[in-house]
Amino acid sequence: MSNEFHSLRIAERRNETTDAISLVLDIREELQPPFSFEPGQHLTLRSTIDGEEVRRNYSLCSSPHEGEWRVAVKRMPHGRFSNWAHKHLKAGEYIDVMPPTGSFTWPFDRSRIGRYAMFASGSGITPVLSLLKSGLENEPKSHFALFYGNKDSDSILFLEEIHSLKDRYLERFEIHHFLSREDDELSIFNGRIDSSKMSLIIEQMLNIEQLEAAFVCGPEGMMVAVESALSKAGLDASHILSERFSAAALSDQQIKAMEELEARAAGKPIKVRLDGRTRTLEFDPAKESILENVRASGMRAPFSCKAGVCATCRARVTKGSVEMIRNFGLSEKERLEGYILTCQAIPVSEDVEIDFDQ
Ligand code: FES
Repeated sequence: MSNEFHSLRIAERRNETTDAISLVLDIREELQPPFSFEPGQHLTLRSTIDGEEVRRNYSLCSSPHEGEWRVAVKRMPHGRFSNWAHKHLKAGEYIDVMPPTGSFTWPFDRSRIGRYAMFASGSGITPVLSLLKSGLENEPKSHFALFYGNKDSDSILFLEEIHSLKDRYLERFEIHHFLSREDDELSIFNGRIDSSKMSLIIEQMLNIEQLEAAFVCGPEGMMVAVESALSKAGLDASHILSERFSAAALSDQQIKAMEELEARAAGKPIKVRLDGRTRTLEFDPAKESILENVRASGMRAPFSCKAGVCATCRARVTKGSVEMIRNFGLSEKERLEGYILTCQAIPVSEDVEIDFDQ
Protein backbone atom coordinates (compact mmCIF):
# COMPACT_ATOMS: atom_id res chain seq x y z
CA MET A 1 0.00 0.00 0.00
CA SER A 2 2.61 2.55 1.05
CA ASN A 3 4.73 1.79 -2.05
CA GLU A 4 1.95 2.61 -4.45
CA PHE A 5 1.67 5.74 -6.52
CA HIS A 6 -1.27 8.07 -5.95
CA SER A 7 -2.56 10.60 -8.42
CA LEU A 8 -2.36 13.98 -6.66
CA ARG A 9 -3.67 17.35 -7.74
CA ILE A 10 -1.25 20.26 -7.95
CA ALA A 11 -2.80 22.94 -5.77
CA GLU A 12 -0.27 25.67 -6.54
CA ARG A 13 2.72 26.36 -8.78
CA ARG A 14 5.14 29.14 -7.93
CA ASN A 15 8.15 30.45 -9.83
CA GLU A 16 11.04 30.47 -7.35
CA THR A 17 13.95 31.53 -9.58
CA THR A 18 14.39 31.69 -13.35
CA ASP A 19 15.07 27.94 -13.46
CA ALA A 20 13.17 26.59 -10.44
CA ILE A 21 9.50 26.17 -9.64
CA SER A 22 7.81 24.85 -6.52
CA LEU A 23 4.62 22.80 -6.50
CA VAL A 24 2.15 22.32 -3.66
CA LEU A 25 0.49 18.91 -3.71
CA ASP A 26 -3.03 18.41 -2.48
CA ILE A 27 -2.89 15.49 -0.03
CA ARG A 28 -6.50 14.44 0.36
CA GLU A 29 -7.54 13.54 3.89
CA GLU A 30 -8.10 9.87 3.05
CA LEU A 31 -4.41 9.58 2.05
CA GLN A 32 -3.10 10.53 5.52
CA PRO A 33 -1.65 7.91 6.09
CA PRO A 34 0.22 6.74 4.03
CA PHE A 35 1.09 10.38 3.37
CA SER A 36 2.82 11.80 6.44
CA PHE A 37 6.41 12.97 6.49
CA GLU A 38 9.45 13.80 8.58
CA PRO A 39 11.42 16.97 7.79
CA GLY A 40 14.09 16.30 5.15
CA GLN A 41 12.27 13.41 3.41
CA HIS A 42 11.49 13.18 -0.29
CA LEU A 43 8.79 12.05 -2.71
CA THR A 44 9.05 10.01 -5.91
CA LEU A 45 7.17 11.61 -8.82
CA ARG A 46 6.31 9.57 -11.88
CA SER A 47 5.20 10.39 -15.37
CA THR A 48 5.20 8.92 -18.87
CA ILE A 49 7.34 11.01 -21.18
CA ASP A 50 7.48 10.10 -24.89
CA GLY A 51 5.97 6.73 -24.07
CA GLU A 52 8.48 5.88 -21.37
CA GLU A 53 7.94 5.82 -17.61
CA VAL A 54 10.25 8.28 -15.82
CA ARG A 55 10.62 8.58 -12.03
CA ARG A 56 12.40 11.28 -10.09
CA ASN A 57 12.84 12.07 -6.43
CA TYR A 58 12.20 15.55 -5.08
CA SER A 59 12.73 16.63 -1.49
CA LEU A 60 9.99 18.38 0.39
CA CYS A 61 10.98 21.94 1.23
CA SER A 62 8.07 22.45 3.59
CA SER A 63 8.04 21.26 7.17
CA PRO A 64 5.33 19.01 8.68
CA HIS A 65 4.09 21.70 11.09
CA GLU A 66 3.25 23.98 8.13
CA GLY A 67 0.57 21.56 6.90
CA GLU A 68 1.80 21.99 3.32
CA TRP A 69 3.40 19.55 0.86
CA ARG A 70 5.74 21.61 -1.31
CA VAL A 71 8.52 20.31 -3.58
CA ALA A 72 10.92 22.35 -5.69
CA VAL A 73 11.86 21.29 -9.23
CA LYS A 74 14.97 22.89 -10.68
CA ARG A 75 15.31 22.74 -14.44
CA MET A 76 18.47 20.82 -15.35
CA PRO A 77 20.12 21.52 -18.75
CA HIS A 78 19.30 18.05 -20.15
CA GLY A 79 16.93 16.95 -17.40
CA ARG A 80 14.20 14.93 -19.01
CA PHE A 81 11.79 15.04 -16.08
CA SER A 82 12.58 18.57 -14.89
CA ASN A 83 12.06 20.11 -18.34
CA TRP A 84 8.84 18.16 -18.78
CA ALA A 85 7.65 19.27 -15.30
CA HIS A 86 8.38 22.93 -16.02
CA LYS A 87 6.34 22.71 -19.21
CA HIS A 88 3.41 20.58 -18.07
CA LEU A 89 2.90 20.73 -14.32
CA LYS A 90 0.53 23.59 -13.59
CA ALA A 91 -2.05 24.19 -10.87
CA GLY A 92 -5.00 21.86 -11.38
CA GLU A 93 -2.95 19.14 -13.19
CA TYR A 94 -2.43 15.70 -11.63
CA ILE A 95 0.85 13.86 -11.02
CA ASP A 96 1.63 10.35 -9.69
CA VAL A 97 3.38 10.49 -6.33
CA MET A 98 4.69 7.80 -3.98
CA PRO A 99 4.49 8.39 -0.20
CA PRO A 100 7.60 9.95 1.41
CA THR A 101 10.81 8.08 2.12
CA GLY A 102 14.35 8.94 3.21
CA SER A 103 16.46 9.01 6.34
CA PHE A 104 17.87 12.54 6.02
CA THR A 105 15.92 13.67 9.04
CA TRP A 106 16.40 14.45 12.73
CA PRO A 107 14.30 14.01 15.87
CA PHE A 108 14.15 17.61 17.13
CA ASP A 109 13.35 17.76 20.82
CA ARG A 110 11.72 20.72 22.61
CA SER A 111 13.87 20.24 25.73
CA ARG A 112 17.25 20.12 23.94
CA ILE A 113 19.58 23.11 23.87
CA GLY A 114 21.87 22.48 20.91
CA ARG A 115 23.72 24.04 18.02
CA TYR A 116 23.32 22.86 14.43
CA ALA A 117 25.26 23.62 11.25
CA MET A 118 23.59 23.24 7.86
CA PHE A 119 25.47 23.24 4.55
CA ALA A 120 23.58 23.53 1.27
CA SER A 121 24.47 24.39 -2.31
CA GLY A 122 21.98 25.16 -5.09
CA SER A 123 18.86 23.01 -4.97
CA GLY A 124 20.44 21.12 -2.05
CA ILE A 125 18.67 23.74 0.06
CA THR A 126 15.34 21.93 -0.42
CA PRO A 127 15.52 19.27 2.33
CA VAL A 128 17.75 21.52 4.45
CA LEU A 129 15.06 24.21 4.50
CA SER A 130 12.52 21.65 5.68
CA LEU A 131 14.86 20.60 8.52
CA LEU A 132 15.70 24.20 9.36
CA LYS A 133 12.06 25.23 9.74
CA SER A 134 11.30 22.13 11.82
CA GLY A 135 14.30 22.73 14.07
CA LEU A 136 13.46 26.39 14.66
CA GLU A 137 9.86 25.49 15.45
CA ASN A 138 10.36 22.31 17.47
CA GLU A 139 13.61 22.98 19.30
CA PRO A 140 12.99 26.53 20.58
CA LYS A 141 16.18 26.84 22.62
CA SER A 142 18.58 25.69 19.88
CA HIS A 143 20.74 27.67 17.48
CA PHE A 144 21.02 27.08 13.71
CA ALA A 145 23.68 28.29 11.27
CA LEU A 146 23.10 27.89 7.53
CA PHE A 147 26.05 28.01 5.09
CA TYR A 148 24.48 28.35 1.66
CA GLY A 149 26.38 28.30 -1.64
CA ASN A 150 25.06 29.63 -4.97
CA LYS A 151 26.32 31.09 -8.26
CA ASP A 152 24.92 34.60 -7.78
CA SER A 153 22.18 36.37 -5.86
CA ASP A 154 19.58 35.80 -8.61
CA SER A 155 19.98 32.03 -8.38
CA ILE A 156 19.37 31.75 -4.62
CA LEU A 157 16.44 29.44 -4.08
CA PHE A 158 14.03 30.43 -1.24
CA LEU A 159 15.95 33.63 -0.54
CA GLU A 160 12.89 35.52 0.69
CA GLU A 161 11.69 32.72 2.93
CA ILE A 162 15.12 32.26 4.47
CA HIS A 163 15.40 35.97 5.21
CA SER A 164 11.97 36.09 6.79
CA LEU A 165 13.10 33.19 9.02
CA LYS A 166 16.13 35.32 9.86
CA ASP A 167 13.88 38.23 10.87
CA ARG A 168 11.66 35.97 12.93
CA TYR A 169 14.41 34.02 14.72
CA LEU A 170 17.02 36.75 14.96
CA GLU A 171 18.72 35.35 18.05
CA ARG A 172 18.79 31.69 17.01
CA PHE A 173 19.40 31.63 13.28
CA GLU A 174 22.37 32.87 11.27
CA ILE A 175 22.66 32.67 7.50
CA HIS A 176 25.89 32.93 5.51
CA HIS A 177 25.75 33.17 1.72
CA PHE A 178 28.68 32.06 -0.46
CA LEU A 179 28.53 33.19 -4.09
CA SER A 180 30.86 31.81 -6.73
CA ARG A 181 30.19 34.46 -9.42
CA GLU A 182 29.62 37.59 -7.39
CA ASP A 183 31.95 39.42 -5.05
CA ASP A 184 31.32 40.34 -1.45
CA GLU A 185 33.48 42.79 0.50
CA LEU A 186 34.43 39.98 2.84
CA SER A 187 36.48 37.54 0.81
CA ILE A 188 35.44 34.52 2.89
CA PHE A 189 31.98 34.75 1.28
CA ASN A 190 33.35 34.67 -2.28
CA GLY A 191 33.63 31.33 -4.05
CA ARG A 192 32.28 27.82 -3.62
CA ILE A 193 32.02 25.85 -0.41
CA ASP A 194 35.09 23.66 -0.92
CA SER A 195 37.91 22.29 1.28
CA SER A 196 39.74 25.58 1.67
CA LYS A 197 36.49 27.44 2.40
CA MET A 198 35.62 24.79 4.98
CA SER A 199 38.96 25.34 6.75
CA LEU A 200 38.09 29.05 7.08
CA ILE A 201 34.52 28.34 8.21
CA ILE A 202 35.72 25.92 10.89
CA GLU A 203 38.47 28.29 11.99
CA GLN A 204 36.37 31.47 12.10
CA MET A 205 32.68 30.65 12.31
CA LEU A 206 32.01 27.26 13.89
CA ASN A 207 32.76 25.60 17.18
CA ILE A 208 32.73 21.92 16.22
CA GLU A 209 32.76 20.73 19.83
CA GLN A 210 29.43 22.43 20.47
CA LEU A 211 27.66 20.95 17.45
CA GLU A 212 24.75 18.60 17.99
CA ALA A 213 24.69 17.69 14.29
CA ALA A 214 25.53 18.95 10.81
CA PHE A 215 23.37 18.53 7.70
CA VAL A 216 24.84 18.49 4.20
CA CYS A 217 23.16 18.56 0.77
CA GLY A 218 24.49 19.75 -2.59
CA PRO A 219 26.70 18.63 -5.46
CA GLU A 220 29.03 15.69 -4.82
CA GLY A 221 32.27 17.74 -4.68
CA MET A 222 30.85 20.16 -2.11
CA MET A 223 29.46 17.31 0.00
CA VAL A 224 32.75 15.43 0.10
CA ALA A 225 34.60 18.65 1.07
CA VAL A 226 32.15 19.45 3.89
CA GLU A 227 31.93 15.89 5.22
CA SER A 228 35.68 15.36 5.32
CA ALA A 229 36.39 18.78 6.86
CA LEU A 230 33.82 18.20 9.60
CA SER A 231 35.06 14.75 10.43
CA LYS A 232 38.72 15.85 10.37
CA ALA A 233 37.74 18.61 12.81
CA GLY A 234 36.38 15.95 15.16
CA LEU A 235 32.63 15.71 14.47
CA ASP A 236 31.57 12.08 14.77
CA ALA A 237 30.28 10.54 11.50
CA SER A 238 26.97 9.66 13.19
CA HIS A 239 26.35 13.41 13.67
CA ILE A 240 26.98 14.30 10.01
CA LEU A 241 23.79 13.74 8.03
CA SER A 242 24.04 13.86 4.25
CA GLU A 243 21.58 13.71 1.39
CA ARG A 244 22.76 13.08 -2.16
CA PHE A 245 20.66 13.82 -5.25
CA SER A 246 22.91 11.81 -7.56
CA ALA A 247 25.82 9.40 -7.48
CA ALA A 248 29.10 9.43 -9.36
CA ALA A 249 29.55 6.63 -11.93
CA LEU A 250 30.98 3.37 -10.60
CA SER A 251 34.76 3.09 -10.76
CA ASP A 252 36.38 0.28 -12.78
CA GLN A 253 37.24 -1.41 -9.50
CA GLN A 254 33.60 -1.24 -8.30
CA ILE A 255 32.37 -2.62 -11.65
CA LYS A 256 34.82 -5.53 -11.42
CA ALA A 257 33.78 -6.30 -7.82
CA MET A 258 30.11 -6.14 -8.83
CA GLU A 259 30.59 -8.53 -11.75
CA GLU A 260 32.41 -11.02 -9.54
CA LEU A 261 29.68 -10.87 -6.90
CA GLU A 262 26.95 -11.28 -9.54
CA ALA A 263 28.68 -14.32 -11.04
CA ARG A 264 29.00 -15.97 -7.61
CA ALA A 265 25.33 -15.22 -6.85
CA ALA A 266 23.98 -16.97 -9.97
CA GLY A 267 21.09 -19.28 -9.12
CA LYS A 268 21.00 -18.45 -5.40
CA PRO A 269 17.44 -18.54 -4.06
CA ILE A 270 15.92 -15.35 -2.62
CA LYS A 271 12.68 -15.39 -0.66
CA VAL A 272 10.88 -12.06 -1.12
CA ARG A 273 7.94 -10.62 0.81
CA LEU A 274 6.11 -7.67 -0.73
CA ASP A 275 2.60 -6.34 -0.13
CA GLY A 276 1.84 -9.35 2.09
CA ARG A 277 2.78 -11.89 -0.64
CA THR A 278 5.83 -14.16 -0.53
CA ARG A 279 7.66 -15.60 -3.52
CA THR A 280 10.98 -17.41 -3.98
CA LEU A 281 13.09 -16.64 -7.04
CA GLU A 282 16.54 -17.52 -8.30
CA PHE A 283 19.09 -14.74 -8.75
CA ASP A 284 19.84 -14.10 -12.41
CA PRO A 285 23.16 -12.19 -12.81
CA ALA A 286 22.03 -10.76 -16.16
CA LYS A 287 19.48 -8.66 -14.25
CA GLU A 288 22.26 -7.36 -11.99
CA SER A 289 20.47 -6.51 -8.71
CA ILE A 290 17.96 -8.02 -6.33
CA LEU A 291 15.55 -5.20 -7.27
CA GLU A 292 15.68 -6.04 -10.99
CA ASN A 293 15.28 -9.75 -10.26
CA VAL A 294 12.26 -9.08 -8.04
CA ARG A 295 10.62 -6.82 -10.65
CA ALA A 296 11.34 -9.31 -13.44
CA SER A 297 9.43 -11.92 -11.43
CA GLY A 298 6.34 -9.74 -11.65
CA MET A 299 6.45 -8.29 -8.12
CA ARG A 300 6.06 -4.50 -8.13
CA ALA A 301 8.97 -3.50 -5.93
CA PRO A 302 9.33 0.29 -5.56
CA PHE A 303 12.27 2.19 -7.04
CA SER A 304 13.32 5.55 -8.36
CA CYS A 305 17.01 6.39 -8.90
CA LYS A 306 18.47 2.85 -9.15
CA ALA A 307 21.79 4.40 -8.12
CA GLY A 308 21.87 3.84 -4.35
CA VAL A 309 20.77 7.39 -3.54
CA CYS A 310 17.04 7.73 -2.89
CA ALA A 311 16.30 4.62 -0.73
CA THR A 312 12.91 4.14 -2.38
CA CYS A 313 13.90 0.48 -3.02
CA ARG A 314 14.65 -0.16 0.68
CA ALA A 315 13.90 -3.61 2.13
CA ARG A 316 14.98 -5.52 5.21
CA VAL A 317 17.11 -8.65 5.18
CA THR A 318 15.41 -11.05 7.60
CA LYS A 319 17.72 -14.01 6.88
CA GLY A 320 21.05 -14.65 5.16
CA SER A 321 23.47 -12.07 3.83
CA VAL A 322 23.71 -9.74 0.85
CA GLU A 323 26.31 -7.23 -0.28
CA MET A 324 25.65 -3.71 -1.55
CA ILE A 325 27.75 -2.10 -4.27
CA ARG A 326 27.18 1.38 -2.81
CA ASN A 327 24.93 3.06 -0.30
CA PHE A 328 24.22 6.77 -0.16
CA GLY A 329 20.62 6.39 0.96
CA LEU A 330 20.62 4.47 4.25
CA SER A 331 21.65 5.78 7.65
CA GLU A 332 24.02 3.80 9.85
CA LYS A 333 21.07 2.93 12.11
CA GLU A 334 19.06 1.51 9.20
CA ARG A 335 22.04 -0.56 8.07
CA LEU A 336 22.47 -2.00 11.56
CA GLU A 337 18.77 -2.85 11.60
CA GLY A 338 19.28 -4.95 8.46
CA TYR A 339 17.93 -2.59 5.79
CA ILE A 340 19.42 -2.72 2.29
CA LEU A 341 19.02 -0.85 -0.97
CA THR A 342 17.77 -3.62 -3.24
CA CYS A 343 18.89 -1.78 -6.40
CA GLN A 344 22.47 -2.17 -5.13
CA ALA A 345 22.19 -5.58 -3.47
CA ILE A 346 23.44 -8.99 -4.56
CA PRO A 347 22.86 -12.18 -2.53
CA VAL A 348 25.91 -13.70 -0.87
CA SER A 349 24.49 -16.63 1.12
CA GLU A 350 22.17 -19.42 -0.05
CA ASP A 351 19.33 -18.57 2.33
CA VAL A 352 18.52 -14.89 1.67
CA GLU A 353 15.10 -13.64 2.74
CA ILE A 354 14.08 -10.01 2.27
CA ASP A 355 10.99 -8.11 3.30
CA PHE A 356 9.80 -4.94 1.56
CA ASP A 357 6.90 -4.58 4.02
CA GLN A 358 8.95 -3.88 7.17
FE1 FES B 1 17.08 4.73 -5.36
FE2 FES B 1 17.52 2.11 -4.96
S1 FES B 1 16.10 3.02 -6.30
S2 FES B 1 18.40 3.76 -3.92
